[in-house]
Amino acid sequence: MNPSTVLTVLCLGLAVAAAENIPIKDCGSKLATITAIDISPCPQIPCPFKRGTTGNITVNFTSKAEITNATSVVHGIIAGVPVPFPLKDKNACHNMKCPIQIGDKVVYKNGVPVLKSYPTIEVLVKYEIVSAGQDVICFTVPVQITA
Ligand SMILES: *[C@@H]1O[C@H](CO)[C@@H](O)[C@H](O)[C@H]1NC(C)=O
Ligand SMILES: *[C@@H]1O[C@H](CO)[C@@H](O)[C@H](O)[C@H]1NC(C)=O
Ligand SMILES: *[C@@H]1O[C@H](CO)[C@@H](O)[C@H](O)[C@H]1NC(C)=O
Repeated sequence: MNPSTVLTVLCLGLAVAAAENIPIKDCGSKLATITAIDISPCPQIPCPFKRGTTGNITVNFTSKAEITNATSVVHGIIAGVPVPFPLKDKNACHNMKCPIQIGDKVVYKNGVPVLKSYPTIEVLVKYEIVSAGQDVICFTVPVQITA
């Protein structure tokens, strides 16, 4: 496993990390329970995402619903205002196996392009998988955009 891996178990909406207190937070996962989140690169929080590269996100979750279709939705929260982060492909079923049955353990993997036009600021990234208007999973992670 990548040494810059962040491995966090989310429990009752609070991030509980074994070694250090990593502020990845559940922001209202409804149709699933997150069991692990892996962000690369992320040697420390905020995760340094370099412009012109791709940040990789892996989320493991256990589904509480049947899911046949879902959308990936990513925002950067800047001064309290959510700004959409464009993805190459919003169809979350291209990043995990669909259809999903209740109780399925699902691995979701996606890349977030860090565009050269982004300002080099710290931003709270809000990552959601949405199905039928409800959050399958939702988490936030602080990210530092670097040049
Ligand atoms: C997610 O699940 C897969 C398959 O079970 C496993 O190989 C991987 O290590 C898990 N990821 C994390 C971050 O625990
Ligand atoms: C993200 O994933 C892509 C495709 O698998 C890979 O080429 C790239 O090196 C990864 N980036 C990081 C920072 O792990
Ligand atoms: C997407 O999933 C919802 C909930 O399961 C379902 O009601 C809807 O018909 C599905 N839409 C498509 C295009 O499959």
